Amino acid sequence: MQIIKTVSAMQGMRRGRARTACVPTMGNLHPGHLDLVRIAQQHAGEVVVTLFVNRLQFLPGEDFESYPRTFEADCAALEAAGVQTLFAPTDAELYPEPQVFRTLPPPALADDLEGQFRPGFFTGVATVVNKLFNIVAPDVAVFGKKDYQQLMVIRQMVRQLALPIDIIAGETVRAADGLALSSRNGYLSDTERAQAPFLRQTLTKTGAAAGAELRAGRADLADIEQHACEALRNAGWVPDYVAVRKQSDLQSPSAQDSEVVVLGAARLGGTRLIDNLELSL
Ligand code: PAJ
Repeated sequence: MQIIKTVSAMQGMRRGRARTACVPTMGNLHPGHLDLVRIAQQHAGEVVVTLFVNRLQFLPGEDFESYPRTFEADCAALEAAGVQTLFAPTDAELYPEPQVFRTLPPPALADDLEGQFRPGFFTGVATVVNKLFNIVAPDVAVFGKKDYQQLMVIRQMVRQLALPIDIIAGETVRAADGLALSSRNGYLSDTERAQAPFLRQTLTKTGAAAGAELRAGRADLADIEQHACEALRNAGWVPDYVAVRKQSDLQSPSAQDSEVVVLGAARLGGTRLIDNLELSL
């Protein structure tokens, strides 16, 4: 595997090479990331994984400094997976001057749900992904449904800016007990790790209750969402939100909508976890 650290070297590789798929990551790779690599390999002859902990998408007080950095293990995992190229720039390489030009996602999408609790997060994500796309120039890029709203922001960005890149979604990879794999799971104590599947269980229950309401022609799901937050609180979590939305645009569903997604974010001790569950009614 070739490890590329500079923008110019990465851009120098673009001409005349095979169809290329990009998998952007912040490292500390787990089987969820590697599943995206596998999907990328199905869509292109060459896979470029990017590894960059993007300070633009961390709020003051969040875990930018302590975010797990496991470069050697990540390289070994990507090598074993057959990845040809890893683009891993330093902070100074990707942001040699303050990144004052930003890619601003529409507030209707980016200020809701995750964006409401992490203001500016999606601007940071869109800016770095747009920049990485300009450097890697992939034909295809793969993102996980684990970060459902992020996937939607990227899809809209690519569409609105006419970027010639197909966006492919990977299903959420979970541990045997249902917990969605995440680099942040490593922050959980043993006790918290045992409690962590409760988030997904709550989303599953919420989905069943919401489905029954929608099928009965009732689209006001506020009580059900509140109930889910209460269940989390009673179990010792601090919920940010549990919300039932349309898969297509993440707006609230009406009673006619059958493709919905239940999204949730909550803190367990010092760790903030997110998850979601797609439902076809
Ligand atoms: P990171 O959290 O490292 O995730 C990289 C990619 O892996 C994202 O597309 C994410 O949705 C996907 N992913 C994470 N956990 C997953 C799981 N359990 N199953 C399947 N896919 C999973 O998301 C980011 O980095 C950053 O915001 C980034 C897009 C790289 C921009 O900085």
